[in-house]
Amino acid sequence: MKASSPSPDGVMRLINGYWATGILGVAAHNRVFTHLEEGCATAAEVAGRAEISERGAQTLLDALVSTGLVDVCEGRYRNTAEASAYLVEDRPASLASFARLKMTHMASLADLGEVVRLGQPVASPVVEVANNPHWEAIVTAIAAQSHPAATLAADLLGLAAAGEVSILDVGGGSGVYSGIWLEANPRARSVQLDWQPINAIARRLLEARGVGERFTCVDGDFHTTDFGSGQYDVAVYSHIAHQEGPDSNVEVFTRLRKALRPGGALVVNDYILDDDRAGPAFALMFAAEMLLKSKHGGTWRRADYHRWLTQAGFEDITFHPAPPGTLVIAR
Ligand SMILES: C[S@@+](CC[C@H](N)C(=O)[O-])C[C@H]1O[C@@H](n2cnc3c(N)ncnc32)[C@H](O)[C@@H]1O
Repeated sequence: MKASSPSPDGVMRLINGYWATGILGVAAHNRVFTHLEEGCATAAEVAGRAEISERGAQTLLDALVSTGLVDVCEGRYRNTAEASAYLVEDRPASLASFARLKMTHMASLADLGEVVRLGQPVASPVVEVANNPHWEAIVTAIAAQSHPAATLAADLLGLAAAGEVSILDVGGGSGVYSGIWLEANPRARSVQLDWQPINAIARRLLEARGVGERFTCVDGDFHTTDFGSGQYDVAVYSHIAHQEGPDSNVEVFTRLRKALRPGGALVVNDYILDDDRAGPAFALMFAAEMLLKSKHGGTWRRADYHRWLTQAGFEDITFHPAPPGTLVIAR
């Protein structure tokens, strides 16, 4: 190998990338990061805390050191700052359930070659189907990514001090926006439009948070359910635009503009591409998931959102990083 040749390490790591998904999913399943958060530990101690074999624990820990999520020092393991922030269970921003969910998606990659050839899903598209069991698993797992975005949006909109506000959350999933916003503002009320089984999950979670009496659910398909006219101060469309095509997004944004009072704000959160398609990394990769699972979805550029929102009648459109997504506020 010439002195100037790049190392094959990066390519080897990517070719074996599915192992990272598997190791993270299994580590999350066995609460390894949560056990390490109790204090750094040897492989035997992790095995004891997680009730798994010592050989299995050692293998998981070696692989986690390889991912950079766990550090080792003199045979004792501890979480890195990243693992501590995002992989310990029972914290609002924890991605542990997302790691478990992604492991269950690995088999679907077998279809990717055919899907790329056709430009269409080969299995029934999951995102367009009402009452698909896919949603129940995803809405609770994705809430950890929506939590920082909802918190940032509340700050940008000054929601805590806004007095009586009326909120519409289209495809609200676990109700994460309503939960955070109704807790922050005791005079706010929220309506969530989603499929019935998903609304049932959101209702249970919001009642547990003590804000259920200010939370109303409408069961139905947002493509065909009327959003009303001039009755909301804030509307939310979070992690939905990527499952829809351009025409559908313009159509929904137009109806959301109509549903808002004058001066009302639409909050969109999604994995949004830079206009030159050079990043962000996660948004670039996520389009493959929409190719696999939806007829018209993808990840869209900032310029696309700007154009669609302008077509829908919004005038003041701003973009705010909310990793791994981007928040758009349109008035
Ligand atoms: C990826 S989840 C996002 C959940 C939530 N907005 C968030 O950001 O955490 C998509 C949500 O949209 C809902 N959904 C998708 N298509 C829908 C449709 N046609 N009508 C009503 N809800 C829909 C799903 O049930 C799910 O709750």
